[in-house]
Amino acid sequence: MPKLDILQIACLSDNYAILIHDEEAGVTASIDSPDAEAILSTLKIRGWRLTHVLNTHHHADHTGGNLRLKEETGCIVIGPQAETERIPGIDRAVGEGDTIAFGNFEIRVLDTPGHTVGHIAYWIPEARAVFVGDTLFAMGAGRIFEGNAEMMWNSLKKIMQLPLDTEIYCGHEYTVANAQFALTVDPENLALQNRAKEVDQLRAKGQPTLPTRLDRELETNPFLRPNVTAIRERLGMPFAPDWKVFAEIRERKNKA
Ligand SMILES: [Fe+2]
Repeated sequence: MPKLDILQIACLSDNYAILIHDEEAGVTASIDSPDAEAILSTLKIRGWRLTHVLNTHHHADHTGGNLRLKEETGCIVIGPQAETERIPGIDRAVGEGDTIAFGNFEIRVLDTPGHTVGHIAYWIPEARAVFVGDTLFAMGAGRIFEGNAEMMWNSLKKIMQLPLDTEIYCGHEYTVANAQFALTVDPENLALQNRAKEVDQLRAKGQPTLPTRLDRELETNPFLRPNVTAIRERLGMPFAPDWKVFAEIRERKNKA
């Protein structure tokens, strides 16, 4: 089975750039480009040559390094087809169902609109990994800037249907604040209580709390749990459709 190295680079205030590398094939991609210099210096230390940038959405803290990386390495830039005009240096536009050949791996594109209307995620089934940008976070979900709650909920449901052992890589380290909020809507959840303590300890030691895994999110992330009776009762929405319960949780987080 081919091996994929995955490396998170903490940069800017709370972003992660993520490098994926297939040593045998000699290809390396950066998922988003928050900080070109941080990415270039990591590539240099590792001796990896950047071949691709894979953008999840157009926000500047995800695309700001595109042009510099392209100029420095000659990599190709791939991004969401619905945001082509807003992705600097884009060479190839992709959407739901498209696949990207990456060394020994195939990367599958999922449309995950909501945070932005063209937002996409990159799923590598063989590596049991998905790169979700700002759609899903550990115990949290992205803000809905351009889409609506129903759209975002459908995007999250798509991620929820991936294999349970899928490692989830996110665009930001928001986990501690997310855990605090999650406890306000799902306080009796023992798995959540334990995880909140665990992530506090990790951050106190300066360690990342990501990646997370789909099975852990399904147990502890209130945004993925609008069907849970205890959460519905707490919100006073026993019979509402899941997406409306999700929307209420998102509203409360916006105000938290
Ligand atoms: Fe964003």
